[in-house]
Amino acid sequence: MKLKDKIALVTGAGSGLGQASILALAREGAKVAVNDIHDNRIQETVSLVEKEGGEAFGVNADVSSAKAVKGMFEKIVKKFGTLDILVNNAGFMNLSAKMRENFPKIFQEAMTTGTVTMSPQATRFMTDDEWQSMIDLHLYGTFYCTREALNIMEDKGYGKIVNMGSICGLSASCAGSPHYSAAKGGILAFTKSVAQEVIGRGVYVNALAPGFVETPGLIEQTLPDVLTLVKMRTPLGRLGTPEEIATLVVYLASDESNFMVGAVLSPNGGMVISIGY
Ligand SMILES: NC(=O)c1ccc[n+]([C@@H]2O[C@H](COP(=O)([O-])OP(=O)(O)OC[C@H]3O[C@@H](n4cnc5c(N)ncnc54)[C@H](O)[C@@H]3O)[C@@H](O)[C@H]2O)c1
Repeated sequence: MKLKDKIALVTGAGSGLGQASILALAREGAKVAVNDIHDNRIQETVSLVEKEGGEAFGVNADVSSAKAVKGMFEKIVKKFGTLDILVNNAGFMNLSAKMRENFPKIFQEAMTTGTVTMSPQATRFMTDDEWQSMIDLHLYGTFYCTREALNIMEDKGYGKIVNMGSICGLSASCAGSPHYSAAKGGILAFTKSVAQEVIGRGVYVNALAPGFVETPGLIEQTLPDVLTLVKMRTPLGRLGTPEEIATLVVYLASDESNFMVGAVLSPNGGMVISIGY
C-alpha cells in the first residue's frame, strides 16, 4: 500500500472525481476525510469507503467560506491528529447562462457549415453573480483549504497537495465558460507559486488539468451536444472516467511523485494535440 495510515482530505468528495479519488486513496491505505456540501453525498462516499474496509470521516463544509474551511480543519485534526494529503477538488464545470441559450444555434452552424461565426455572448452578458460564484468556489476554495493545510504541513515538514485544475485553464479555450476558465487558470498559477514557496519544507504542490470526464456534475452542467463536439475533437473518441483521474491523484499524493513540484498533468484523450482530419 502506497499511503498506509496517511491522512487525506478530498473536498467535493460526494460525487464524480472527488468520490473516485477518495476511494482510490483509501484503497492505498489512507484514512480519509470526506468533504462536501451535501450530507447525503458525504454519507454515500463514507459508506463506500467503509464497505471496502477503509476508515472515513465525513465533514460538511462550504469550501468557499474561510470560516467553514477553518472549522473543517479543526474537526479533521481533532479526529485524526494531522493531515498529510489535501486534494482541492470541490467544484464543477459550468456553462454560462448565455452560452446555454445560444449553444443550439452555434451547434447547428458548426455541424452544417463546419465553422462558427456566432458568439456565445457569454462574457458580454455574464452577471456579477455568475462570475463571482465560480471564482469563490474554485479559486478561493483552493486558497482557503491550502492555507489551512499549510498551517499543519509546513510545521511538520511533510505534505502532498493536489489541485484540480482543468484543461479549460491550461490549453483549451472552453468558450462559453470564461468564469470557469479564469478560475481554473488561476488555480494552475497558484499551484506553481505555492509549490516553490513550500517545497523546502517538504510540502509538494501539484495539479491535474483533466479534459472532459464523465461525472454527474459534467452531465448536469453541460449540454449533450457540447459533449458530442468534445468527443469529435478528442482523438480517443470518448470522455475520461473518474477512475482514470483518481489514479493520478494517488500518484501525486504518494512518494512515487517526489520529483514533481508545481507540475500540471493533463489527462485528456489527446484533445489538445488534434488539428482534426
Ligand atoms: N468532469 C470533468 O469533465 C472535469 C474536468 C476537469 C476538471 N474537473 C474538475 O473536477 C472537480 C470535480 O468535478 P466533477 O465533475 O467530479 O463534479 P461533480 O459535480 O460530480 O462533483 C463535485 C462535488 O463538489 C461538491 N461541491 C460543490 N460545491 C462545493 C462547495 N462549495 N464546498 C464543498 N463541496 C462542494 C458537490 O456537491 C459535488 O458533490 C471540479 O473542480 C471540476 O472543475 C472536472
